[in-house]
Amino acid sequence: MNICVIGTGYVGLVTGVSLSEIGHHVICIDVDEDKVTKMKKGISPIYEPGLSELMAKNIKEKRLRFTTSHSEGLQQAAVVYIAVGTPENKDGSADLSFVAQAAKDIAENVEHDVIVVTKSTVPVGTNAMIKEIVQTHLSDGLQVEVVSNPEFLKEGSAIHDSFHGDRIVIGAENEQAFSIIEEINQPFRVPIFKTDIKSAEMIKYASNAFLATKISFINEISNICELLGANIENVSTGMGLDQRIGSQFLKAGIGYGGSCFPKDTKALIQIAGNVEYEFELLKGVVNVNKKQQGILIGKLNDCLPVISGKKIAVLGLAFKPNTDDMRESASILITEELIKLGAEVVAYDPIAMDNAKTILSSKVQYADSIERAVDNSDAVLILTDWDEIKNVDLAVFHKMKRPLVIDGRNCFTLEAMEKNGIDYHSIGRPVSAKLIEAAPI
Ligand code: UGA
Repeated sequence: MNICVIGTGYVGLVTGVSLSEIGHHVICIDVDEDKVTKMKKGISPIYEPGLSELMAKNIKEKRLRFTTSHSEGLQQAAVVYIAVGTPENKDGSADLSFVAQAAKDIAENVEHDVIVVTKSTVPVGTNAMIKEIVQTHLSDGLQVEVVSNPEFLKEGSAIHDSFHGDRIVIGAENEQAFSIIEEINQPFRVPIFKTDIKSAEMIKYASNAFLATKISFINEISNICELLGANIENVSTGMGLDQRIGSQFLKAGIGYGGSCFPKDTKALIQIAGNVEYEFELLKGVVNVNKKQQGILIGKLNDCLPVISGKKIAVLGLAFKPNTDDMRESASILITEELIKLGAEVVAYDPIAMDNAKTILSSKVQYADSIERAVDNSDAVLILTDWDEIKNVDLAVFHKMKRPLVIDGRNCFTLEAMEKNGIDYHSIGRPVSAKLIEAAPI
């Protein structure tokens, strides 16, 4: 099948590459010339495990192309995927201007009937809007069908998720459209769920909102565990064994970040608000997350009442491991607060430092290894559970003035930290080591 994908952000690029890998001829359009030049050479603009390899392979096998030209991209495509961004407006709603522009570009450049598949996360009713825009601008006699086909890929494991997802949701209003999109997706061998368009649009928001709710729920439970002396790891494990609850997304930490949960939860509150429904539960989820992102500062303050002038090492900056994405990462809020309190902040992340430099305060310093960041510091804050951090030799913390580690991701066992004489404060667990007398302030 000849497929065109409009937009090569994380969703569009992974979609285009995966579709080419299962045998389709895919051309991806992006307006960014530098990005397209790089992608033509097989260079991925984002860090995503396995993506560059599949890009290079499918470019070589002539199933994957990139262009900045809408006419070139759309001429032969029987099916066009819209995968442009839907950023957050000031009021939390989704900005649909890129989606509307893509719809217009499709109409003005196709010379045949077309099926438009929406991958971008869009509010209920947007596919109807897309259909109207395309139909209005399409040459006389041509027909358009729209299909909602939301993505459920996690950054850092997006390629794996494409081939091992739990379901592919197809929302359509026409049997022919259903069967073409079903046929395109068949080689993924992932179960397909067919439904109406509005429900498909809602499945995407409801799924992200539910996962975000699970995270805020477990974070609140972890805060209560701390007050009562229970251990959140044991609580999560015990809860997760109930198949009705499930063990995933019950990891307490410093809140959810990234380009999806923060934006989609707020957008769903707006979507509900537009039909005069107050989504109280989801508002709570968002507020809890905001609080949780700042929780490590309070823990640090309990250990170091005066933060001004102290060297604080920050390990991990990305919103989660295996990505260089810094969007809505708790590291933004935490480093800002540390700088405001007068700390000297030295950060390390295995992959996200280049992106971090464009986002974090210019006062943040960067180290090229965990060891250099930690050296002679007064406290270590762990913000991302990278394998490199989880597997570090614990002796490294003895390079600090005194070993004080405040871990927002529960990377280490209490036993290991205690055995190594490290004053360790984590999320929802008892403090492991009271071995070391607090240093004089
Ligand atoms: C999320 C969804 O998981 C995907 O299904 C969806 O397709 C995607 O959004 C999207 O809408 O595009 P993603 O944002 O890449 O994927 O990352 P997640 O793995 O879901 O993690 C989101 C945040 O929640 C991270 O900050 C992570 O550290 C945090 N998290 C996750 C927890 O704090 N605890 C958990 O148990 C799980």
